Amino acid sequence: MTILVTGGAGYIGSAMVERLRAEGMDVVVVDNLSRGHRDAVPSEVPLLVGDVSDEAFVSSVFAEREIQAVFHFAAESLVGESMENPGKYFRNNVGGVLTLLQAMSAQGVRRFVLSSTAATYGDPDTVPIVETAPNAPTNPYGQSKIMCEQLLRWFGEIHGIRWTALRYFNAAGATASCGEDHDPETHLIPLALDAAYGRRGALKVFGNDYPTPDGTCVRDYIHIADLAEAHLLALRYLETEEFGIFNLGNGKGFSVLEVLDVAGRVAGKPVPFEHAPRRPGDPPTLVASSEKARKVLGWEPKYATLESIVESAVRWSESHPNGYEK
Ligand code: UFG
Repeated sequence: MTILVTGGAGYIGSAMVERLRAEGMDVVVVDNLSRGHRDAVPSEVPLLVGDVSDEAFVSSVFAEREIQAVFHFAAESLVGESMENPGKYFRNNVGGVLTLLQAMSAQGVRRFVLSSTAATYGDPDTVPIVETAPNAPTNPYGQSKIMCEQLLRWFGEIHGIRWTALRYFNAAGATASCGEDHDPETHLIPLALDAAYGRRGALKVFGNDYPTPDGTCVRDYIHIADLAEAHLLALRYLETEEFGIFNLGNGKGFSVLEVLDVAGRVAGKPVPFEHAPRRPGDPPTLVASSEKARKVLGWEPKYATLESIVESAVRWSESHPNGYEK
C-alpha cells in the first residue's frame, strides 16, 4: 500500500513518514518546502516538491502513483499568524484540502486522514473537551480546519471518500530523527529550551490574566510519535468505518508557567522569562478528552508525561544543534 503524506518534510509529517516506514509501508511525500526541510525526508522516500493547492501538480501525483490513502499534514498552523493574515489560512488550508479531495475523487482514492486541531473548539464551556463540544474557534486557523472537515463530510457523502479528522492538541517532542525546526519558531517548548540554554533572551509569557489557576494559558501537550501512531490506527479504522472525528491529547493541562518549570528542570537550567501582553487568538484552556480515540481506535499515548516529551525535545536539540540542513 502506498500512502501519500502531504507535509511529510514538516515537523509532524516527517514523524509520520518515519512511522510508516517502520511498518514497511510505501510512502510518497508531497511538500512545497515552505516550512518543511528536504533533509527531514529520508533519501529513499520520493519527495515531490509542489503545492497541495496546485491542481495540475496534485492531479499528476495521483495519476502517476498507485496511492491508496492520504495523510494530509501540509497546512498553515499558527494561531497568532492566522490573526494577522486570515486569507493565507483560508486559501491554503481550505484550498489544499479541496484540491486533494477533487483529485482523489477523480482517481478513485478513498481514504483521507486530516490533521485537524483543538483550535476548532475555541473557548469551550467544559474541559476536558469532548468531540461533540460546539465548534466556536477564536482564530481563523481553527475556522479553516472546521471548513476542511465540512468539505470532507460532503466528499464523503457524494464521492464515497472515507475520512477521519484528528484534532491534535499541542504537538510536541521529537523522535530520534524528527524534531522541531521552525523558522521563525513560535512554539512554547522549543522557545523555552532555547531561553534556558541562552540561545535567545528571556521568554515572553503571553498574558497572565487568563481565567486559569496561575493566569497563563493551559494546554495539553502530546508527543508527535503518539500522533503518528493515531494516524495508523485511524487508517485501520477506515477499513470498516466511513468517517470519524477524534481528539488527540494526553488529557492533562499545563499552564505556560508550569511548562517553563518542567523545561527548566529537564534542561538543568531555569528558563528566564518576562510577562508580555496576550497573543491575539489564544483561547485560555485547551485540554482533551481522548476517551473516544482510546476506546474506538485503541490508541494509548506512550509519552504520558510532560517531562518525557520535553526530554525527547532536549535529546533532539542536542543531536541537531542547528536543526536540519544547516
Ligand atoms: N506562548 C508564550 N510565549 C511564547 C510562545 C507561546 O507564552 O513565546 C504561549 C502561547 O500564548 C500559548 C502557549 O504558550 O498559550 C502555547 O503556545 P504555542 O504557540 O506553543 O501553541 P498554540 O497553543 O498556540 O498552538 C498549538 C499549535 C496549533 C494547534 C494548537 C492546539 O501551533 O496548530 O496548539 O492546541 F491548533
